[in-house]
Amino acid sequence: MIKAVLFDLDGVIVSTDHCHYRAWKRMADEEGIYFDEKINDRLRGVSRMASLEIVLERATRAYTDDEKKELAERKNGYYRELISELTPADLLPGAMENLNKLKDNGILVAVGSSSKNTPIILRQIGLDAFFDAVSDGNNITRSKPDPEVFLKAAEMLGVPPAECLVVEDADAGIEAGRRGGMKTLSVKGAAGADYFAPDLSSFDIYEKIVR
Ligand code: BG6
Ligand code: MG
Repeated sequence: MIKAVLFDLDGVIVSTDHCHYRAWKRMADEEGIYFDEKINDRLRGVSRMASLEIVLERATRAYTDDEKKELAERKNGYYRELISELTPADLLPGAMENLNKLKDNGILVAVGSSSKNTPIILRQIGLDAFFDAVSDGNNITRSKPDPEVFLKAAEMLGVPPAECLVVEDADAGIEAGRRGGMKTLSVKGAAGADYFAPDLSSFDIYEKIVR
């Protein structure tokens, strides 16, 4: 019996992949570090500093901790410029329909995102007051695939993990949901889930899983 649905934000509710890609690419180009879309795919669901370590795998020199901090901040500055342009039109197809249907049927909805920029993104897309709980990169110490972000969301809602469904586009996010003892729905081909949907526009979460 599912009482709450915990949504990943980036790549599930809103399309920010390309903003992350462009921001990392700009920083990597400035540093002379090779970076492409395939490497960007590996950053999905992964925290900012863990993402930086993946980007630096292709660096030709070692970076100190202070330099790494500066690189991550620089990337985030570029990313913030890009997400300041997001509008409700950047909601992914089917996201709003699913969110409304779940809410209308008494199911709690929460965000479970690794991103520290979650509050900014939710404001940009007009959903800052929509969710019953928001758990994000600002209230966790361990990033996905650790289940912390989803366990905190479940706790905020007062719903046992076994009665939560996690919706994710990242392998790391599906693993986090599973490790947290939750049911999982994969969109865009994330591996290892209980349920699969190509995207949310062709999938009614309430009818197909919750009801
Ligand atoms: C996740 C994204 O939602 O947030 C990752 O999928 C990103 O690609 C992570 O690295 C952290 O984001 P931020 O906004 O805190 O740098
Ligand atoms: Mg995601």
